[in-house]
Amino acid sequence: MSAAARAVKRVGVLGVGLMGAGIAQVTAAAGAYTVVAVESTAALAAKARAALEKSVRAGAARAVAKGADAAAAGAAADATLARLEVTADRGALAGADLVIEAAPEDAAFKARLYGELRALVRADAIVASNTSGLLIADLARAFGGDGAQRVVGLHYFNPVPAMALVEVITLPTTAPDVRAAALALVRAQKKTPILAADTPGFVVNRLLVPALASAVALAGARVASVPDIDAAMRLGAGHPMGPLTLADYVGLDTLLAILRNWRAAHPAEPAFSVPPLLEALVKEGRLGRKSGAGFYAWSGDKPGEPIALPR
Ligand code: 3HC
Repeated sequence: MSAAARAVKRVGVLGVGLMGAGIAQVTAAAGAYTVVAVESTAALAAKARAALEKSVRAGAARAVAKGADAAAAGAAADATLARLEVTADRGALAGADLVIEAAPEDAAFKARLYGELRALVRADAIVASNTSGLLIADLARAFGGDGAQRVVGLHYFNPVPAMALVEVITLPTTAPDVRAAALALVRAQKKTPILAADTPGFVVNRLLVPALASAVALAGARVASVPDIDAAMRLGAGHPMGPLTLADYVGLDTLLAILRNWRAAHPAEPAFSVPPLLEALVKEGRLGRKSGAGFYAWSGDKPGEPIALPR
């Protein structure tokens, strides 16, 4: 049976961190899908459920602040949460028509994960990776079997509920109905899809990650202070966030993992250089927003004061 012929009704999300939670939220909010989101332990699943409830309720509060009817917004939030299940049981993925993998960006871990995934999902399920920088062809190969036909990329941006784009990455071998189903899902999530070839970073991260790394290198070289580098790009280039705030927001560990993967595959590409300051901050556990400290101190979603850089 083709993917387009069987409509996607149940979506699995594997990994409910920052990105997975956002993807689960927008998928459940779309209305047409039930969502099963899978974390690795019961404690992480409970934490993810609580974070999702908070984020869905915050979305409703935002809508009310913008003039939406409070009862209707509350009912919509209840309905979204009712379509959303969070579990530590990977076996639950067997019920999904399409599984979006949003696991940490560790190449060896993902290769192992994809090796296990084929046995966990239905034989005709579509598998989409939210990878930031790994190649879909490598994940499809690790998946094995007919992975080259049904493993694709769906790359979301942080914060997922607010960012309008999803990059859709297909392979020359992707089944046309798989591609159609992936595009339909993105549109139902009220996002704009763009099609991108399977190359390092696709479009956005190929442009953005080297830019963020350059900003880290400038900070490391003391070309300007951390707030001034950010102010430069906000006020001089109209970016909504300065690059060091954005690096904190994305996660310095994620940024480092992307650069290291690319560096290993393309050692001569200067755009993929790893700034020593990025390595030093991650080594100190300064991972950005998620750890409460990066270039800035963070409380919740907002950056606070800059923190002194290691010498
Ligand atoms: N959840 C839902 N909606 C949110 C949100 C959240 N966490 N945060 C902000 N929003 C919405 C707001 O409701 C508002 O919506 P409206 O325009 O309809 O009123 C809109 O986003 C703007 O929000 P605010 O006015 O509260 O705040 P800002 O104007 O400061 O915007 C921001 C916040 C959207 C995060 C903005 O600063 C921004 O766009 N920053 C850059 C983010 C970015 O570049 N992300 C990509 C990172 S790269 C990536 O994710 C790829 C990965 O592979 C590394």
